[in-house]
Amino acid sequence: MPSSPATTSIAAHTSHGLPRATQAFCPIPDASKAPSSFLLAPVTGSDGAHAIGSGHFRGRNLLSVDDLSRLEIDRLMQVADYMATVVAGPGSVDLAKGCILAALFYEPSTRTSASFQAAMLRLGGQVLSIGDVASSSVAKGETLEDTVRCLQCYSNIIALRHPEKGAAARAAKVMGIPLINAGDGIGEHPTQALLDLYTMHGELGRVDGLVVTMVGDLKNGRTVHSLSKLLTHFQGVHMRFVAPDSLRMPEALLDTLQQRGAKFSQHSSLDDVLKETDVLYVTRVQKERFSSDAEYDAVKDSFVITPALLTRLGARDCLRILHPLPRVNELAPELDDDPRSAYFRQMKHGLHVRMAIIACLLGKA
Ligand code: NCD
Repeated sequence: MPSSPATTSIAAHTSHGLPRATQAFCPIPDASKAPSSFLLAPVTGSDGAHAIGSGHFRGRNLLSVDDLSRLEIDRLMQVADYMATVVAGPGSVDLAKGCILAALFYEPSTRTSASFQAAMLRLGGQVLSIGDVASSSVAKGETLEDTVRCLQCYSNIIALRHPEKGAAARAAKVMGIPLINAGDGIGEHPTQALLDLYTMHGELGRVDGLVVTMVGDLKNGRTVHSLSKLLTHFQGVHMRFVAPDSLRMPEALLDTLQQRGAKFSQHSSLDDVLKETDVLYVTRVQKERFSSDAEYDAVKDSFVITPALLTRLGARDCLRILHPLPRVNELAPELDDDPRSAYFRQMKHGLHVRMAIIACLLGKA
């Protein structure tokens, strides 16, 4: 979101024929004319003093959304806009030619893993995928540290998903190439939060001033942990956290949000909040984080979003429903054709945003 008003529309309409919101994050160059390198105008702060341009992120990690300043977020969004034009146009660029991404996933993943790999391929790079850690030396008892020490010998950047909170930070300590946290237990999922942000802006044309209601498993959902912190960079955002008592946002995170001056409130029902909501961010109850099936069963269907519920609670026409996916029962399939359901469009943006992140950390954008 550049401070300059000179923005361009990405695409006029969604596949539903809905007017697509949208102000792109930057004036977009013609991707077909820039196949192997490009220079986007640097993102500049309102004071004009700071500018973030090509090479700014070279060699850095992305472990948490806290690694990013507002200007850096804007820059990643700007580069993601460019990547969307690449995908829609020529399909690929040569920015990462000669580079290899190692995708190291200790937990199940479809979207995150596939989109990281597709992103690297569309950037002209190659991929080394260690998806089934059971068939790697992890099964022999190798530590995470030793595994990433090994993979960095064969790659230029690593995307890591791991069941332990803090695992990405631990791995990064022994590494000399960029590491992207693709989800660390109940900790964070910064790339998902960036694509959620990109989707909100694309759908509604702004982030400032939105009422964002997050519902479901807010205790264990790493995507909401990252997204809530990311939203504190924007003006006048109101967050509504809706969860059963046992799945509320962690207190330490609420303290952080408070210290950053975020406006939020907690609720046990959608009844009072859906009407005023701009973005309904639905999450899955994270079965794998529960110690027993009985505990999971007690809360698993606490919130199920259906067309009838949206009507009964007076949801707006301009509401957008997001979900990091996969869904279980919390989003009725009957919602899929509702133009307000943005979750499949959101999934597609995972590619654009991850292309931007990889290109930036490799110092290619
Ligand atoms: C999320 C995750 O893994 O945290 N999925 C994803 O990355 N798209 C959400 C979830 O698993 O519920």
